[in-house]
Amino acid sequence: MQGVIDTVPHTRLMCQEETMPDYVIRLYKDSDYEAVRDMFSRGINEHTKAAFFHTLSLPHVWALLLAVFLVLLQTTGSYLLPTMAVSLGVAGQWLMNRHVYVTYVSHSLATDMTNIRKYYLQRDGYCFWVAELAGEVVGMVAAIPPDSPTGENQVELKRLSVPAKHRGKGIAKALCSTVIDYARRRGGSAVLLSTSLSQNDASKLYLKLGFRRTTTGYAPFIFAKFIDFRILFYQYDIPVQR
Ligand SMILES: CC(C)(COP(=O)(O)OP(=O)(O)OC[C@H]1O[C@@H](n2cnc3c(N)ncnc32)[C@H](O)[C@@H]1OP(=O)(O)O)[C@@H](O)C(=O)NCCC(=O)NCCS
Repeated sequence: MQGVIDTVPHTRLMCQEETMPDYVIRLYKDSDYEAVRDMFSRGINEHTKAAFFHTLSLPHVWALLLAVFLVLLQTTGSYLLPTMAVSLGVAGQWLMNRHVYVTYVSHSLATDMTNIRKYYLQRDGYCFWVAELAGEVVGMVAAIPPDSPTGENQVELKRLSVPAKHRGKGIAKALCSTVIDYARRRGGSAVLLSTSLSQNDASKLYLKLGFRRTTTGYAPFIFAKFIDFRILFYQYDIPVQR
Protein backbone atom coordinates (compact mmCIF):
# COMPACT_ATOMS: atom_id res chain seq x y z
CA MET A 1 0.00 0.00 0.00
CA GLN A 2 2.67 2.46 -1.04
CA GLY A 3 1.20 5.67 -2.35
CA VAL A 4 0.59 9.36 -2.12
CA ILE A 5 -2.37 10.88 -0.33
CA ASP A 6 -4.38 13.13 -2.61
CA THR A 7 -6.00 15.00 0.26
CA VAL A 8 -2.64 16.53 1.17
CA PRO A 9 -1.62 18.13 -2.12
CA HIS A 10 1.03 20.43 -0.64
CA THR A 11 3.05 17.49 0.62
CA ARG A 12 2.54 15.09 -2.25
CA LEU A 13 6.15 13.99 -2.29
CA MET A 14 6.82 14.31 1.39
CA CYS A 15 3.89 12.92 3.22
CA GLN A 16 3.22 9.40 2.05
CA GLU A 17 2.15 6.02 3.34
CA GLU A 18 4.64 3.29 4.17
CA THR A 19 4.02 -0.42 4.37
CA MET A 20 5.32 -2.43 7.32
CA PRO A 21 5.18 -6.22 7.74
CA ASP A 22 1.94 -6.48 9.74
CA TYR A 23 0.69 -2.94 10.08
CA VAL A 24 0.50 0.06 7.82
CA ILE A 25 1.67 3.57 8.57
CA ARG A 26 -0.72 5.98 6.92
CA LEU A 27 -1.83 9.57 7.19
CA TYR A 28 -4.28 10.52 9.91
CA LYS A 29 -8.00 10.44 9.01
CA ASP A 30 -10.86 12.15 10.86
CA SER A 31 -12.19 8.72 11.87
CA ASP A 32 -8.99 8.28 13.98
CA TYR A 33 -9.82 11.36 16.07
CA GLU A 34 -11.05 9.73 19.31
CA ALA A 35 -8.53 6.88 19.19
CA VAL A 36 -5.63 9.26 18.69
CA ARG A 37 -6.65 11.68 21.46
CA ASP A 38 -7.25 8.81 23.87
CA MET A 39 -3.93 7.15 22.99
CA PHE A 40 -2.07 10.41 23.48
CA SER A 41 -3.68 11.13 26.88
CA ARG A 42 -3.02 7.63 28.21
CA GLY A 43 0.53 7.56 26.87
CA ILE A 44 1.42 10.79 28.66
CA ASN A 45 -0.52 10.33 31.90
CA GLU A 46 1.00 6.89 32.51
CA HIS A 47 4.31 8.58 33.34
CA THR A 48 2.96 10.12 36.56
CA LYS A 49 3.90 6.99 38.51
CA ALA A 50 7.53 6.89 37.34
CA ALA A 51 7.91 10.64 37.87
CA PHE A 52 6.44 10.34 41.39
CA PHE A 53 8.90 7.58 42.38
CA HIS A 54 11.73 9.60 40.90
CA THR A 55 10.74 12.58 43.09
CA LEU A 56 10.49 10.38 46.16
CA SER A 57 14.02 9.12 45.53
CA LEU A 58 15.52 12.63 45.70
CA PRO A 59 17.72 13.23 48.78
CA HIS A 60 16.39 16.76 49.35
CA VAL A 61 12.81 15.48 49.35
CA TRP A 62 13.72 12.79 51.89
CA ALA A 63 15.55 15.37 54.00
CA LEU A 64 12.56 17.73 53.96
CA LEU A 65 10.07 15.01 54.89
CA LEU A 66 12.36 13.79 57.67
CA ALA A 67 12.86 17.31 58.99
CA VAL A 68 9.09 17.95 59.05
CA PHE A 69 8.57 14.63 60.83
CA LEU A 70 11.20 15.31 63.48
CA VAL A 71 10.19 18.92 64.13
CA LEU A 72 6.51 17.97 64.55
CA LEU A 73 7.43 14.99 66.71
CA GLN A 74 9.56 17.25 68.90
CA THR A 75 6.87 19.92 69.23
CA THR A 76 3.76 17.74 69.61
CA GLY A 77 5.25 14.69 71.31
CA SER A 78 2.90 12.53 69.27
CA TYR A 79 3.44 10.42 66.14
CA LEU A 80 0.00 11.21 64.72
CA LEU A 81 0.58 14.73 63.40
CA PRO A 82 4.11 14.04 62.00
CA THR A 83 2.81 10.93 60.21
CA MET A 84 -0.12 12.84 58.77
CA ALA A 85 2.14 15.70 57.67
CA VAL A 86 4.56 13.34 55.92
CA SER A 87 1.65 11.51 54.24
CA LEU A 88 0.34 14.84 53.01
CA GLY A 89 3.80 15.72 51.74
CA VAL A 90 4.00 12.46 49.80
CA ALA A 91 0.51 13.02 48.38
CA GLY A 92 1.68 16.51 47.37
CA GLN A 93 4.56 14.99 45.39
CA TRP A 94 2.09 12.82 43.52
CA LEU A 95 -0.20 15.77 42.79
CA MET A 96 2.66 17.96 41.56
CA ASN A 97 3.86 15.30 39.12
CA ARG A 98 0.34 14.55 37.99
CA HIS A 99 -0.33 18.24 37.51
CA VAL A 100 2.55 18.58 35.04
CA TYR A 101 1.32 15.72 32.83
CA VAL A 102 -2.38 16.53 33.13
CA THR A 103 -1.72 20.17 32.25
CA TYR A 104 0.39 19.16 29.27
CA VAL A 105 -2.29 16.80 28.00
CA SER A 106 -5.11 19.34 28.46
CA HIS A 107 -3.10 22.02 26.70
CA SER A 108 -2.25 19.72 23.78
CA LEU A 109 -5.81 18.48 23.40
CA ALA A 110 -7.08 22.06 23.42
CA THR A 111 -4.55 23.32 20.86
CA ASP A 112 -2.96 21.28 18.05
CA MET A 113 -5.06 18.20 18.77
CA THR A 114 -8.43 19.93 18.63
CA ASN A 115 -8.60 19.95 14.86
CA ILE A 116 -5.87 17.54 13.87
CA ARG A 117 -6.65 17.61 10.17
CA LYS A 118 -6.51 21.39 10.00
CA TYR A 119 -3.43 21.74 12.20
CA TYR A 120 -1.31 18.96 10.76
CA LEU A 121 -2.55 18.06 7.30
CA GLN A 122 -3.37 21.40 5.75
CA ARG A 123 -0.10 23.24 6.33
CA ASP A 124 3.25 22.86 4.69
CA GLY A 125 5.83 21.32 7.01
CA TYR A 126 3.25 19.64 9.25
CA CYS A 127 2.13 16.01 9.09
CA PHE A 128 0.42 13.37 11.23
CA TRP A 129 0.60 9.60 10.76
CA VAL A 130 -0.98 6.67 12.49
CA ALA A 131 -0.05 2.98 12.53
CA GLU A 132 -3.01 0.75 11.75
CA LEU A 133 -3.22 -2.95 12.49
CA ALA A 134 -6.32 -4.94 11.50
CA GLY A 135 -8.43 -1.78 11.42
CA GLU A 136 -7.21 -0.58 14.84
CA VAL A 137 -5.07 2.50 15.39
CA VAL A 138 -1.97 1.19 17.19
CA GLY A 139 0.38 4.14 17.05
CA MET A 140 0.69 7.82 16.20
CA VAL A 141 3.33 10.44 15.47
CA ALA A 142 3.43 14.00 14.14
CA ALA A 143 5.93 16.33 12.51
CA ILE A 144 6.04 20.12 12.76
CA PRO A 145 8.56 22.86 11.99
CA PRO A 146 10.47 23.56 15.27
CA ASP A 147 9.48 26.70 17.16
CA SER A 148 13.00 28.14 17.38
CA PRO A 149 15.03 30.74 15.48
CA THR A 150 17.55 28.05 14.53
CA GLY A 151 14.79 25.62 13.56
CA GLU A 152 14.84 26.43 9.89
CA ASN A 153 15.37 23.33 7.80
CA GLN A 154 14.64 21.08 10.77
CA VAL A 155 11.64 18.95 11.70
CA GLU A 156 10.28 18.38 15.20
CA LEU A 157 8.89 14.96 16.06
CA LYS A 158 5.85 15.12 18.35
CA ARG A 159 2.95 13.13 19.74
CA LEU A 160 4.64 9.72 19.52
CA SER A 161 2.60 7.06 21.27
CA VAL A 162 1.89 3.33 21.05
CA PRO A 163 -0.74 1.68 23.31
CA ALA A 164 0.73 -0.63 25.99
CA LYS A 165 -0.60 -3.85 24.44
CA HIS A 166 1.11 -3.12 21.11
CA ARG A 167 4.52 -2.13 22.44
CA GLY A 168 7.75 -3.96 21.69
CA LYS A 169 6.74 -4.74 18.11
CA GLY A 170 8.84 -2.02 16.51
CA ILE A 171 5.84 0.26 15.82
CA ALA A 172 7.42 3.34 17.45
CA LYS A 173 10.67 2.68 15.62
CA ALA A 174 8.77 2.62 12.32
CA LEU A 175 6.85 5.80 13.21
CA CYS A 176 10.08 7.64 14.09
CA SER A 177 11.68 6.40 10.86
CA THR A 178 8.68 7.80 8.99
CA VAL A 179 9.36 11.25 10.46
CA ILE A 180 13.10 10.99 9.76
CA ASP A 181 12.33 9.99 6.20
CA TYR A 182 9.87 12.87 5.86
CA ALA A 183 12.55 15.31 7.06
CA ARG A 184 15.10 13.81 4.69
CA ARG A 185 12.78 14.11 1.68
CA ARG A 186 12.15 17.76 2.55
CA GLY A 187 15.90 18.37 2.55
CA GLY A 188 15.95 18.80 6.34
CA SER A 189 19.17 18.73 8.31
CA ALA A 190 17.86 17.27 11.57
CA VAL A 191 14.91 15.91 13.51
CA LEU A 192 14.46 17.38 16.99
CA LEU A 193 12.28 16.23 19.88
CA SER A 194 11.85 16.56 23.61
CA THR A 195 10.68 14.15 26.27
CA SER A 196 10.56 14.06 30.05
CA LEU A 197 13.13 12.34 32.27
CA SER A 198 10.60 9.73 33.38
CA GLN A 199 9.82 8.59 29.85
CA ASN A 200 12.53 5.95 29.98
CA ASP A 201 11.24 3.78 27.15
CA ALA A 202 11.12 6.80 24.87
CA SER A 203 14.71 7.81 25.69
CA LYS A 204 15.96 4.27 25.04
CA LEU A 205 14.11 4.24 21.74
CA TYR A 206 15.56 7.57 20.60
CA LEU A 207 19.14 6.60 21.51
CA LYS A 208 18.71 3.29 19.71
CA LEU A 209 17.52 5.12 16.60
CA GLY A 210 20.62 7.31 16.57
CA PHE A 211 19.31 10.46 18.29
CA ARG A 212 21.75 12.20 20.63
CA ARG A 213 20.82 14.16 23.70
CA THR A 214 21.61 17.83 23.17
CA THR A 215 20.46 19.53 26.36
CA THR A 216 18.14 19.29 29.35
CA GLY A 217 15.94 21.84 31.08
CA TYR A 218 13.21 22.08 33.67
CA ALA A 219 9.51 22.03 32.83
CA PRO A 220 7.96 25.53 33.02
CA PHE A 221 6.44 25.11 36.49
CA ILE A 222 7.60 26.81 39.68
CA PHE A 223 8.01 23.51 41.50
CA ALA A 224 9.74 21.72 38.58
CA LYS A 225 13.21 22.06 40.14
CA PHE A 226 12.01 20.79 43.49
CA ILE A 227 10.51 17.62 42.00
CA ASP A 228 13.36 17.42 39.43
CA PHE A 229 10.97 17.43 36.49
CA ARG A 230 13.45 17.60 33.65
CA ILE A 231 12.85 17.81 29.93
CA LEU A 232 15.42 16.09 27.72
CA PHE A 233 16.08 17.37 24.21
CA TYR A 234 17.24 15.04 21.44
CA GLN A 235 18.47 15.56 17.91
CA TYR A 236 18.93 13.23 14.96
CA ASP A 237 21.31 14.61 12.35
CA ILE A 238 20.41 13.71 8.81
CA PRO A 239 23.54 12.86 6.82
CA VAL A 240 24.14 15.22 3.90
CA GLN A 241 23.36 13.48 0.61
CA ARG A 242 26.01 13.86 -2.08
C1 LIG B 1 8.06 4.98 23.87
C2 LIG B 1 7.08 4.14 23.05
C3 LIG B 1 6.51 5.01 21.96
C4 LIG B 1 7.84 2.93 22.47
O1 LIG B 1 6.92 2.23 21.63
P1 LIG B 1 7.22 0.74 21.08
O2 LIG B 1 6.37 0.54 19.89
O3 LIG B 1 7.10 -0.23 22.19
O4 LIG B 1 8.75 0.83 20.68
P2 LIG B 1 9.46 -0.16 19.67
O5 LIG B 1 8.87 -1.53 19.80
O6 LIG B 1 9.48 0.44 18.31
O7 LIG B 1 10.93 -0.18 20.26
C5 LIG B 1 12.00 0.33 19.53
C6 LIG B 1 13.25 0.32 20.39
O8 LIG B 1 13.08 1.16 21.53
C7 LIG B 1 13.68 0.57 22.67
N1 LIG B 1 12.65 0.35 23.67
C8 LIG B 1 11.33 0.61 23.54
N2 LIG B 1 10.70 0.28 24.69
C9 LIG B 1 11.66 -0.20 25.53
C10 LIG B 1 11.66 -0.70 26.86
N3 LIG B 1 10.53 -0.80 27.57
N4 LIG B 1 12.82 -1.08 27.41
C11 LIG B 1 13.97 -1.02 26.70
N5 LIG B 1 14.04 -0.56 25.45
C12 LIG B 1 12.91 -0.16 24.88
C13 LIG B 1 14.27 -0.73 22.24
O9 LIG B 1 15.64 -0.46 22.02
C14 LIG B 1 13.59 -1.04 20.94
O10 LIG B 1 14.45 -1.59 20.00
P3 LIG B 1 14.60 -3.20 19.88
O11 LIG B 1 13.21 -3.73 19.79
O12 LIG B 1 15.37 -3.35 18.60
O13 LIG B 1 15.32 -3.63 21.10
C15 LIG B 1 5.93 3.60 23.95
O14 LIG B 1 6.49 2.99 25.09
C16 LIG B 1 4.92 4.66 24.37
O15 LIG B 1 3.99 4.99 23.65
N6 LIG B 1 5.07 5.22 25.58
C17 LIG B 1 4.11 6.19 26.10
C18 LIG B 1 4.11 7.50 25.36
C19 LIG B 1 5.49 8.10 25.27
O16 LIG B 1 6.26 8.11 26.23
N7 LIG B 1 5.79 8.66 24.10
C20 LIG B 1 7.03 9.34 23.83
C21 LIG B 1 6.76 10.79 23.79
S1 LIG B 1 8.27 11.73 23.80
